[in-house]
Amino acid sequence: MALLHILLFAATARAFYLPGAAPHNFKEGDPVPLFVNALTPMLTGSDNAKLKSLINYDYYNPNFKFCEPDGGPQKQPESLGSILFGDRIFNSPYDIKMLENNGTCQTLCTQHDVSGEDAKFINDRIREDYALNWLIDGLPAAEMKLDTRNGDLFFDMGFNLGNDEEPFSEQKPALNNHYEIVLRYHSPAAGNYRVVGVLVWPSSVGGPQDGPATCDTTNSNPLVLTETQTQTIRYTYRVTWNESDTPWATRWDNYLKIFDPRIHWFSLINSLVIVVFLCIMVSMILLRSVSRDISRYNAIDLSEDVQEDWGWKLVHGEVFRTPSRPMILSVMVGNGSQLCAMVGVTLVFALLGFLSPSNRGSLATVMMICWTFFGSIGGYLSSRVYASLGGTERRKNAFVTATVLPTIIFTIVFLLDLFLIGAGSSGAVPFGTMLFIIILWFGISAPLSAVGGYFGSKHGVWISISFRSCLIISRPSNIPSASIKSPAKFPQHPNTFVRWRQLLLAGILPFGAAFVELYFVLSSLFASRAYYAFGFLALTAGIVGLTTATVSILFTYFCLCAEEYRWHWRAFLTGGGSAFWLLAYGLFFWASRLSLHSMSSAILYLGYLFLLVTFDFLITGTIGFLASYWAVRRLYSAIRID
Ligand SMILES: *[C@@H]1O[C@H](CO)[C@@H](O)[C@H](O)[C@H]1NC(C)=O
Ligand SMILES: *[C@@H]1O[C@H](CO)[C@@H](O)[C@H](O)[C@H]1NC(C)=O
Repeated sequence: MALLHILLFAATARAFYLPGAAPHNFKEGDPVPLFVNALTPMLTGSDNAKLKSLINYDYYNPNFKFCEPDGGPQKQPESLGSILFGDRIFNSPYDIKMLENNGTCQTLCTQHDVSGEDAKFINDRIREDYALNWLIDGLPAAEMKLDTRNGDLFFDMGFNLGNDEEPFSEQKPALNNHYEIVLRYHSPAAGNYRVVGVLVWPSSVGGPQDGPATCDTTNSNPLVLTETQTQTIRYTYRVTWNESDTPWATRWDNYLKIFDPRIHWFSLINSLVIVVFLCIMVSMILLRSVSRDISRYNAIDLSEDVQEDWGWKLVHGEVFRTPSRPMILSVMVGNGSQLCAMVGVTLVFALLGFLSPSNRGSLATVMMICWTFFGSIGGYLSSRVYASLGGTERRKNAFVTATVLPTIIFTIVFLLDLFLIGAGSSGAVPFGTMLFIIILWFGISAPLSAVGGYFGSKHGVWISISFRSCLIISRPSNIPSASIKSPAKFPQHPNTFVRWRQLLLAGILPFGAAFVELYFVLSSLFASRAYYAFGFLALTAGIVGLTTATVSILFTYFCLCAEEYRWHWRAFLTGGGSAFWLLAYGLFFWASRLSLHSMSSAILYLGYLFLLVTFDFLITGTIGFLASYWAVRRLYSAIRID
């Protein structure tokens, strides 16, 4: 209960700051640099708005014709995770100095040679609801919006490139060429100023684009670009400095608003109900039938010659028989546990507040580093499971564990990259970063995995010696043994349809525990909405893990009761069954929240969804398998075998 309290506190606490991240103090007149990030498609306004694209564009993409700084744009250093998640940060020509030029209309530049082709490109991006992403002192520029549910004001990161909405129905799409920038500052001591809020109101100022700028947004028509001739665009801006009593430490609070926490609570309670229901069911089954079975099995008079085993006891000689394809199974368990450890540690970091949003990309960076170093866990578990399943090609197992999954992921990411490059997007991972990731994976993760595999095979078979059935474990299944009943004796269950139905049924419970939270995760992944309800996410992840484990144990038990001894793959697939539902939900999300116009966006979405589903399958499958393995060992070590 205390743990729950801590987690819930973390979920609502406003402590998302990297300990030690120092505030930047400005003096009056100090330059306050404005950085520009890639343009991203945005979910606008109304609740049923749909995301129209998944492709990011560089701010200095030549078609946009945005004003460039003297000497050309300079790329800013970024973290690995930040690059992977599509940040491309450059400097800009905006001339902003602390507390200077308050309320003055300034011209950024006038672009004279905007061709019809450029205009078409810009108009298409406006129709797709693209947003500009600026950064000042680490804070994203935001539009202030009203939460209609409770009347709260909040900052919505990013602001529109243009306007394609109703008020401009006669003249659209209108390009925003004037920016009202309101910078909120806080003064902790006389003469020291800190930026604590960045708000931008973009607007479209039409009329003649030459001559002195007035920044008059009220009396002018919007600027609509014609796609047939060359034209001029004047970009203007006005900076207003507003004093604020928000201290630096809480400046992110306005940005990190949890929309309607009631939905998260609802999701959590929904999940808890499922888990409680399951736990009661499993413990009832285990307590009643298993203990009854055990006492019945053990009470049989040994002196009786004609004694017949039944139920799960009948298959006791077979349950630890080598399943088909032990190599693939153990590699998947190894990779799944590597991912599992990565997700777990990342969530702990997020809960402790280490993944501050001002530290851009820290989430993805931590995930990459965890993945790299948990190669050792993957190798260790893979080789131990492989040994326990009776596999003999240990070197091959270590090699496959270390290389196959990274290669598959890498190939998919590479192919998606080609699509991004083809679509002229800036989201493609740069070559240097690709190289760095290859070095991380194949230079650090793979050797660690091999080391883990070495220790795993040294520790060897994973079962207590006191249990007699272990004698048959290390024996390959093709060696006949007088003491083992022939598998042919048992009823075969060739009905694969039943099996699939079972898997779908099993997957629906863990999925049901997570689907509300899943909506927020998908929205933040694809619609670049910030996600920070990590407390809720961690609890949901824990509940999903628990549900997966109990469901797998339950189904394995049913399977053994039906005298079907080939439970290994079933346990893995039962655990991974929720991946199917995730896939279905991803397609539903596409249908309901996205309206992708371009082929490359659709392929990107499917590619990312496929990766997500694969990860989920490996993680939940591993949980299902390991939990069932544990339960089977417990079950069969409780009966007396003669
Ligand atoms: C800047 O101007 C706004 C109104 O135009 C005013 O409220 C604000 O106090 C001014 N800020 C400074 C630092 O003078
Ligand atoms: C800035 O300050 C002025 C005057 O105090 C106020 O009218 C205006 O709403 C403020 N702007 C923002 C964005 O807070």
